[in-house]
Amino acid sequence: MSEDPVRSVLWMVRGSWITMALRAACVLGIFDVLDGPLVEDEVAARTDTDPPTLSRLLRSLSDLGLVERVAPDAYRNTALGATLREDHPSRLRDLVLMQATLPNLAAWHALDEAVRSGSGVYESVNGLPSWEHLARDPEAQRMFNAAMARRGSGQVAALLTATDLSGASTIVDVGGGRGAMLTGLLEALPSLHGVLADQPAMAAEAEAVFAAAGLGDRTTCVPSDFFRSLPGGGDVYTIANVLHDWDDADAVRILRTVRAAVPDHARLLVVEHVLDAPGRSFEELREVHLVDLHMLVMFGARERTQAEYDELLVDAGFTASTRGATGTDWNVLEARPAAETAE
Ligand SMILES: C[S@@+](CC[C@H](N)C(=O)[O-])C[C@H]1O[C@@H](n2cnc3c(N)ncnc32)[C@H](O)[C@@H]1O
Repeated sequence: MSEDPVRSVLWMVRGSWITMALRAACVLGIFDVLDGPLVEDEVAARTDTDPPTLSRLLRSLSDLGLVERVAPDAYRNTALGATLREDHPSRLRDLVLMQATLPNLAAWHALDEAVRSGSGVYESVNGLPSWEHLARDPEAQRMFNAAMARRGSGQVAALLTATDLSGASTIVDVGGGRGAMLTGLLEALPSLHGVLADQPAMAAEAEAVFAAAGLGDRTTCVPSDFFRSLPGGGDVYTIANVLHDWDDADAVRILRTVRAAVPDHARLLVVEHVLDAPGRSFEELREVHLVDLHMLVMFGARERTQAEYDELLVDAGFTASTRGATGTDWNVLEARPAAETAE
């Protein structure tokens, strides 16, 4: 950062332009063709772009450290640029595309309104709630699902470190998306059966993902509305990165539905980025704080401290939670049906 405060803030002002430069480069497939050095004309030919204009974009991508100029007219990806390739395991490209959709940007544009009112703005700005928008727009839904699924391995690592799942027989993942986390758990624990409960379109997508991973016979996908009812019979229930999408009243409603489904002997594992979990780096905290604002504009929702999650859990009929060490930026809060501990 520059020592001149005006220059430093000017750089922050350019943040949205940088996101758009990343988006353009991802959409054009620039990082996908630059895994080795390539002259600009060849990059233009392979990405179907106007050579002199592409050169201007490459210049800025180089300033950002995403590509490097290896000859006067040739570039290749840096390690940073390589993370935005379509085949990179981080799936960061999906996140760029999801975050840069116009409805999402429009919601952020009304952050001031959200801070004034304390409520979400996505619906007032875009005319319908984010979940409904996704349900009506298959491409937006695909980008969202892919962006969510990219976190599965981190969630699995956190769960396996925080708690002993070796004795579990059936795990029910509430709002499990396309099944990335459950896939990882089933691969790590060969005797486990997995039940994925999500909205009908998502449950169908997860079914295809499990079949492709050879896990069709160890999984059941249940189309569900977690405000109404959820599958019973599990001995472990997980709910990952769902509660932060909802305000307190709705989060308690979801947890009450979970409570109604959870047998008394079972346990619930909440996987989230808990705001006051110890040991976070400055970069991790900065990320959680920005995602908290994203939850505000998108859903009128929030990131929470462990005490705030506990309030919701207790209100819904669970014990207060214990937090296991995870060694990752994900946290796992474990709670049980309150009646069991009261005995
Ligand atoms: C932020 S995503 C989290 C997905 C996954 N657990 C993860 O961590 O990547 C929230 C999930 O909640 C699901 N969801 C939203 N409303 C729902 C509802 N009423 N009933 C069931 N699932 C719902 C979405 O379809 C989505 O898969």
